[in-house]
Amino acid sequence: MASAIMLRGLGLAAAAARAGSRPQSLFAACKLHTTSSSSVANSEDKATSGPLGKRLKDQAETLIIGGGCVGTSLAYHLAKAGQKDVVLLEKTELTAGSTWHAAGLTTLFHPGINVKNLHYYSIWLFNELEKETGQNVGFHSPGSIRIASTPTRVDEFRYQMQRQGWNKAPQWLLTPEEVHEMHPLLNMDKVLMGLYNPGDGHIDPYTLTQAYAIGARMYGADIYQKTMVTGLAMRSDGSWNVDTPYGTIHAQRVVNAAGFWSHELGLMTGFELPLIPVHHQYVITGPVPEVKSRTQELPVIRDLDGSYYLRQERDGILIGPYEKEDRMELQDHWIKDGVPPGFGKELFESDLDRISDNLEAAMEMVPVFRDAEISRIVCGPIMYTPDILPLMGPYRAQGVQNYWCAAGFGYGVIHSGGAGKYLTDWILNGEPPYDLIELDPNRFGETWCDRQFVATKARESYGYNNAVGYPKEERFAGRPTARVSGIYQTLLDKGADMGFHSGWEQPSWFAKEGDTHGYLPSFRRSNWFHPVGRECELVLSRAGVIDLTPFGKFEIKGPDSAKFLDHLCANNVPKTGKTCISHMLTPRGRVYAELTISKLGEDHFFAITGSGSEFHDLRWMEDHALKGGYDVTISNITDEVACNGIAGPNSRDVLEKLTSGDLSEEGFKFLAVHDISLGGVDVRAIRISYTGELGWELYHAREDTARLYEALMSAGQEFGLGDFGTYAMGSLRLEKGFRGWGAEMTVDNNPLEAGLDFFIKLNKPADFIGKQALQQLQQEGLTRKLVCLTVEVEENGPDAEGNETIWHQGKVVGNTTSGAYGYQIQKSIAYAYVPLHLAEPGTVVEVELLGSRRSATVQQEPLVQTEPVRTRLARKKSAETARGNVTV
Ligand SMILES: Cc1cc2nc3c(=O)[nH]c(=O)nc-3n(C[C@H](O)[C@H](O)[C@H](O)COP(=O)(O)OP(=O)(O)OC[C@H]3O[C@@H](n4cnc5c(N)ncnc54)[C@H](O)[C@@H]3O)c2cc1C
Ligand SMILES: *[C@@H]1O[C@H](CO)[C@@H](O)[C@H](O)[C@H]1NC(C)=O
Ligand SMILES: *[C@@H]1O[C@H](CO)[C@@H](O)[C@H](O)[C@H]1NC(C)=O
Ligand SMILES: *[C@@H]1O[C@H](CO)[C@@H](O)[C@H](O)[C@H]1NC(C)=O
Repeated sequence: MASAIMLRGLGLAAAAARAGSRPQSLFAACKLHTTSSSSVANSEDKATSGPLGKRLKDQAETLIIGGGCVGTSLAYHLAKAGQKDVVLLEKTELTAGSTWHAAGLTTLFHPGINVKNLHYYSIWLFNELEKETGQNVGFHSPGSIRIASTPTRVDEFRYQMQRQGWNKAPQWLLTPEEVHEMHPLLNMDKVLMGLYNPGDGHIDPYTLTQAYAIGARMYGADIYQKTMVTGLAMRSDGSWNVDTPYGTIHAQRVVNAAGFWSHELGLMTGFELPLIPVHHQYVITGPVPEVKSRTQELPVIRDLDGSYYLRQERDGILIGPYEKEDRMELQDHWIKDGVPPGFGKELFESDLDRISDNLEAAMEMVPVFRDAEISRIVCGPIMYTPDILPLMGPYRAQGVQNYWCAAGFGYGVIHSGGAGKYLTDWILNGEPPYDLIELDPNRFGETWCDRQFVATKARESYGYNNAVGYPKEERFAGRPTARVSGIYQTLLDKGADMGFHSGWEQPSWFAKEGDTHGYLPSFRRSNWFHPVGRECELVLSRAGVIDLTPFGKFEIKGPDSAKFLDHLCANNVPKTGKTCISHMLTPRGRVYAELTISKLGEDHFFAITGSGSEFHDLRWMEDHALKGGYDVTISNITDEVACNGIAGPNSRDVLEKLTSGDLSEEGFKFLAVHDISLGGVDVRAIRISYTGELGWELYHAREDTARLYEALMSAGQEFGLGDFGTYAMGSLRLEKGFRGWGAEMTVDNNPLEAGLDFFIKLNKPADFIGKQALQQLQQEGLTRKLVCLTVEVEENGPDAEGNETIWHQGKVVGNTTSGAYGYQIQKSIAYAYVPLHLAEPGTVVEVELLGSRRSATVQQEPLVQTEPVRTRLARKKSAETARGNVTV
């Protein structure tokens, strides 16, 4: 044990932790107001008459596997929303997984803007549950303070605040004096600022779970304990047979909520879910006189640089550290050998060495901890995903339907309420209630996200629990994966700074001689700022090549393919040899996806989507193909097909040197698709570019990328061809007014307010998904609109990036969706949703950036015309000149 720590009473505590016999709240004895109303904890299930004589229901609409806080919350919400035949199966007792020994911290804070909604709802519910169920849940809400002890943290807090304005959860900044007033036991030496969330605190996870279960039963759900799921098989109609020792239940839908067994449960159906258990510890002290003498509970402290949470527990202190990635412990042999059958009521051996640095920091921050007696150490498993965000929603595997995930919860207690509600809404309405794309259970692909990657990333994520969260953040563990393009090394050698996109490495920008190389995160403009300007200039005046291999790519074939796409997409289906941008909408008329669709021949289409939406789009298409009985085959060719984009006024000249094909304005029109040979490489070329400049996307076999790239570069030498990355593309697309999926377009927006009218064919004969809802929306009239703003920023930025608060006359009126510096117009740009009355060009609003409200003006769109429009206007003008009737 590290000698610097002088904690007393350890031997005893470790023994107590190991003893842990029955799942019972660690805090049950410490409750300030424990009620004895709960009959659930010890009672037999109502349909049980001893384990062997158990009679189960034989039908379920939704069958939930796992009785932790997450599974029971889902059962409660589904039953309450009126779903009949909700069944929950728990192999031992409720809470017997990670739940019973959780520290129970609850916070409104999360760096993810939409994930905050889960927290907000959970805390609201925690305040209501006792009234509804009669079960006390031991909810304490003394508030919580995050501590900044470095200037970078102060920036981070201001950055968090700028993304907070429109959020429902209360949150504000505290001066050191205010922090000290709220928490007099803190050593204030290093405290620069506090970030405060009133209403935060902690809850007893054990009684919380009992309350969910009581509620679920109250509304008619059936919960069977000591009933293990031993087999799962999908029937041909997409429903499921769920085997237990007491018989088989036929379920319309199953939900994997099996906590740290969810990986094993996944294997039962052959799914390798990207999950791994990690060890997490917390220590509890005996009474501390300075704590005991207080009349009011102390707020929870999160010392971010010390990396731990610290709260009052009865008259003592509870501290939960997140040790560094190289110190933390993974339970990876559970993945290989399975979780030992008895585990759940047990805990791991604790190891104070691992967390000694954090505890030392805690002693410095809260000096009374130094003299406190440790009375308990808890070390238990938590299921981690590579990015600590849970897997929440329908899971897709080839041909699989109605399999849902509610697994991988790193903070399952605070997420439980929100998760149950969110999944219930999704299950009942057939579409997500709001955008939580970051929790999509399919965001990790099987081929690039292998076990090693999961373990490496979980380690990193755990260690980074309290790391500074920067804009444009990159994390490097586990990279590169198998998903590297054929020019990965070449581009690195040319100075590429890579971004990570669904397993792929893609250049964000290129450093040249004289530039500072590498990833330098910052809350302001950083080393990439001038190089990106150089790349924009390259594309605007000469031509550049960009590696677009990360795009998701699908082929759609079969006699019904046109009919199918006509039903799924709001735009017209393109004619042969043509490409169109098309949106798939949800039944409520929200933007689900954006695809570039090309018709290659009769019953043969090629569809492209962004790198983050590959599974998301495929799942939607496959689901609808199955449900609608369409005769189509959808194949995923993402990994076989690569893409290079070329853009800029010289791009035609470059390509012409490599092909005999006709690339003229007439011979290769905007949005046309042709198969051509370029320098001996077979290429499917589409005349389109997200930069808005003259350009092509060149799709080709992945093994040909290096050859194609070399050919382009040598042909391009005389035309000044160079490389550009995604940052330059992001800036160029904003100047042109192109919308981005996941930013301007999400399931929180409809395409009319997003300004996508041009792509939405409400008059086409086909009854496409979302059409009715949109017609209704159109009749009712819009309430808000996407606008383009130019923002007065400081010389070193920051520029807006999306999710900043928009203010008008002292009120929050909306939020930005994207932002970047526009190098051509030499202004900082932001896109934002604002109420209709503020959408007129010329209107002045404010964008909050690092604590300052920057003036921003609504502009006429686009700021810069796209090349096809410029070309069309120029031709019109010259035709008019030729006819001699120029009016201007
Ligand atoms: C030390 C520690 C401290 C923590 N502190 C916090 C905190 O402060 N705040 C917070 O939000 N989170 C905290 N967590 C995390 C939290 O405990 C988990 O995220 C949460 O409990 C997960 O709940 P769950 O319902 O997903 O899984 P679990 O609680 O693991 O429940 C899964 C259930 O599924 C059952 N099951 C498994 N397989 C089968 C099968 N085949 N058939 C039937 N049933 C099955 C299991 O028996 C188990 O009861 C902490 C965790 C630990 C270890
Ligand atoms: C804004 O928040 C949404 C929802 O959490 C997220 O998907 C998106 O990536 C965020 N955008 C930025 C630029 O942070
Ligand atoms: C597409 O196929 C590739 C290669 O087989 C695979 O890595 C990827 O996960 C697949 N994507 C989808 C959405 O199925
Ligand atoms: C801000 O953006 C999010 C995500 O798009 C959206 O859900 C929310 O409604 C927006 N808030 C406002 C006030 O427009």
